[in-house]
Amino acid sequence: MAPPARTTGATVTLLSILAVLSYVMINNSRSRSKSSSRKAAVKKPSTGLVAAIGNTPLIRINSLSDATGCEILGKSEFLNPGGSVKDRVAVKIIEEALECGALARGGVVTEGSAGSTAISLATVAPAYGCRCHVVIPDDAAIEKSQILEALGATVERVRPVSITHKEHFVNIARRRALEANEVALKHHETSNDVNHHSKCSADSKGGFFADQFENLANYRAHYEGTGPEIWEQVGGKLDAFVAAAGTGGTVAGVSQFLKEKKSSIKCFLIDPPGSGLFNKVTRGVMYTTEEAEGRRLKNPFDTVTEGIGINRLTENFKMAALDGAFRGSDLEAVEMSRYLLKKDGLFVGSSSAMNCVGAVKVAQQMGPGHTIVTILCDSGMRHLSKFYNEKYLARYGLTPTASGLEFLGIGAGEKFKIYIS
Ligand SMILES: Cc1ncc(COP(=O)(O)O)c(C=O)c1O
Repeated sequence: MAPPARTTGATVTLLSILAVLSYVMINNSRSRSKSSSRKAAVKKPSTGLVAAIGNTPLIRINSLSDATGCEILGKSEFLNPGGSVKDRVAVKIIEEALECGALARGGVVTEGSAGSTAISLATVAPAYGCRCHVVIPDDAAIEKSQILEALGATVERVRPVSITHKEHFVNIARRRALEANEVALKHHETSNDVNHHSKCSADSKGGFFADQFENLANYRAHYEGTGPEIWEQVGGKLDAFVAAAGTGGTVAGVSQFLKEKKSSIKCFLIDPPGSGLFNKVTRGVMYTTEEAEGRRLKNPFDTVTEGIGINRLTENFKMAALDGAFRGSDLEAVEMSRYLLKKDGLFVGSSSAMNCVGAVKVAQQMGPGHTIVTILCDSGMRHLSKFYNEKYLARYGLTPTASGLEFLGIGAGEKFKIYIS
């Protein structure tokens, strides 16, 4: 009887092994199918262009992280369909305007913008059945107006003048929306007369001035989108956020959201030459030496960076929750852009390069071991004629020469140097 008992024992052992094996295999295949369905969910087709905006990757900038001992992470906004952080803003501005009836489908959205917001508005406007009219300063990189026209927007290039002047590009854009509304009103009146009904043109739907500087839809795009995405992507492990400001929408929306989540997160501004915001944040006075009495040039050249720096307090910037500010120079931004290209393969625009200068300055002030997030606003592709044009840079003494991060006081072999700005 002993052998059968041994056989039964062996059979039981064999069956147990098989049961364990099949359990492991079933679970493995379940978790594989779970992870593949997770992947499938991520790659599911999105409904139209608008759904493809946002949820951009947060990437570790390896070179800067290794050099500073901090985790320096860049929100890759250049991967949005319209190529910049402004896609979110364009969507929010148009959706809020449609919701409250200030803009009708078929109407024209006007904007005075040095480029990115206009490109984003021109990109998303057709998705809402709208058109786009843009007024830009004629010193903005030429590829920006070329892109706008290719996207179907109408473009007016005008001389840069003070915002107080009625011919400032922002003021002209505001006027164009009013003019479109007047045309719409006239067409509406004449269309009540059946004889004129067929004369209704596309203009008859009126206009809406996007007003990215003062329209708080801009701030809300970042408070409701960029900020929460960053918070989720870092899993709550975040010590600092830094960005430059143009309208102030990004730095305001993100800083306000992050501070509400965790008040110990430090939020900083990095400010380019010619901007008064550094003094506003650090001393409470909007002032820049370039703006000083008698120093203002007729055709001012303050900075090679585009889209950032300003000398007035916008409604969007007023929403920012900042702990401090740093100054960044043009040369630092140019050197940073070439460094990122060489070390990380990151081809970013001038404001992104300045933001990365800011991230290193924050790392230097806080010391190693901190997680710092900044924004990679747009790609270098938008900046070929100025920021990536060696002849243009040479004219302003901005030829890059650095081999490492020595332009920020980090020498070869030296990990980081703490200093207080
Ligand atoms: C390329 C680029 N980067 C950064 C900014 C600044 O962002 P914000 O307007 O949210 O301050 C702008 C603004 O126009 C921009 O065009």
